[in-house]
Amino acid sequence: MVESLPPVIAIDGPSASGKGTVAQKVAEALGFHYLDSGSLYRLVGLVARNSGISLDDEVRLAGVAGNLAVAFSGDKILIEKQDVTEGIRTEESGRAASAVAVHPQVRTALLDRQRAFRQLPGLVADGRDMGSVVFPDARLKVFLTATVEERAMRRYKQLKQKGIVATLDPLLQDLRERDARDESRSAAPLRQGSDARLLDTTAMSIADAVERVLTWYRAETGDARH
Ligand code: CDP
Repeated sequence: MVESLPPVIAIDGPSASGKGTVAQKVAEALGFHYLDSGSLYRLVGLVARNSGISLDDEVRLAGVAGNLAVAFSGDKILIEKQDVTEGIRTEESGRAASAVAVHPQVRTALLDRQRAFRQLPGLVADGRDMGSVVFPDARLKVFLTATVEERAMRRYKQLKQKGIVATLDPLLQDLRERDARDESRSAAPLRQGSDARLLDTTAMSIADAVERVLTWYRAETGDARH
């Protein structure tokens, strides 16, 4: 008998769509593991910057990706014992992540690391290519999005909450650029797969989005326990 792998829920979508928050809450509700794949691209960008490696140098960046000495410890992300949890969340790190993510060799170097998160009882993974490349056999694939204006507003509020002064227009501009880069790259471009369900959260609360994903998952697995 072929042993089946732990189930995966793949949640993909553009920047600031809220997919990370939704994915984490779905994972909590099901008692599943959680993979924030964007954090790996952010880490590659951060290490590259700290080591003076150009964001265009695909070969050296793939080396960084293959050798990331990262430890996920509870809510903390550590690189060689240094806490980079906040450091990788800056807008600058997001831009660096999006730049390193265009390189196919970097993406390949991160594949095994991402797949290692697939453990019992299951995994919720969020990113751009969870359903298309990393976990093509995911039990449920969701494409979670919102209008770019709504996403810019969410990011604005998020930054304000952290005490960071921001203005809406540059955030909107930045998101448009990030969307364009993520959608137009040839390696694993961001798009809704034909087997992914669309979840437009523009006018939806986080709780409702979480509930929708859980309802889809229950229907998919015929599991009424959760
Ligand atoms: O959603 P947000 O852009 O704020 O951040 P993220 O999910 O941490 O992703 C940062 C960048 O990494 C994105 O702009 C993507 O270019 C890239 N990424 C990717 O290419 N593939 C993934 N599976 C996850 C992130």
